[in-house]
Amino acid sequence: MRPDRFVDKVAFITGGGQGMGQQLAIDMAKEGARVVVVDIDVQGLEETRTLLEEQNSDYLIIECDISDDVQVAKAIGKTIGKYSRLDILVNNAGLLRNATIEETTNDLIDKTIDINIKGILYAIREVTPIMKRQSYGRIVNVSSITGYLQRDRPTCSHDKDDVLLGRCEERCDGREDSSEATWYCEGHVQSDDVLILG
Ligand SMILES: NC(=O)c1ccc[n+]([C@@H]2O[C@H](COP(=O)([O-])OP(=O)(O)OC[C@H]3O[C@@H](n4cnc5c(N)ncnc54)[C@H](O)[C@@H]3O)[C@@H](O)[C@H]2O)c1
Repeated sequence: MRPDRFVDKVAFITGGGQGMGQQLAIDMAKEGARVVVVDIDVQGLEETRTLLEEQNSDYLIIECDISDDVQVAKAIGKTIGKYSRLDILVNNAGLLRNATIEETTNDLIDKTIDINIKGILYAIREVTPIMKRQSYGRIVNVSSITGYLQRDRPTCSHDKDDVLLGRCEERCDGREDSSEATWYCEGHVQSDDVLILG
């Protein structure tokens, strides 16, 4: 741990009500970040609040469905309202359902696209002008190793891997300001959703 790594940085973390997003919020706050934690799950957010309070972190908790562009814009607006900047966007929230193409329902297709693709794009779209204004920004998109390894599971994370993130990374790298995007493929972590999948 580097206690001063994120000092003065404001990190906006989606899906911080449990699992990896929650741990990330706690760890980044320990390393000096002011963390904005968004999630659709109010109970999970309260748990994260308690954990952040326990370590005296500077934080903001916002209930937000990232698949709703208006809610995403409001959450980022609240962040700017409180901190006047947003340095790091972590697109962590995601839907992970282990389905083959034959098991994939219309509802699952819609939800996966809404959360794993549109949700990420909405957040990137909102933070881009802010990061450009600051001449600084970091975007971390959490994807999945299943995009490489489980090619028969189209709704796992291939959407994130193939459709969006590789290209997003290229675009951000081509900018003239100092913004960066990272495409990060998670392996296997025993979070609640993964435990349910078995
Ligand atoms: N855990 C793993 O082994 C693993 C492996 C590969 C990829 N990933 C990816 O890493 C990320 C985090 O994984 P995890 O295991 O901690 O997930 P998780 O399911 O434990 O937590 C995801 C969080 O996102 C929130 N969320 C879901 N839909 C949302 C929405 N519409 N708006 C706001 N919040 C929403 C959930 O409420 C939850 O708190 C996910 O994107 C997942 O696809 C995880």
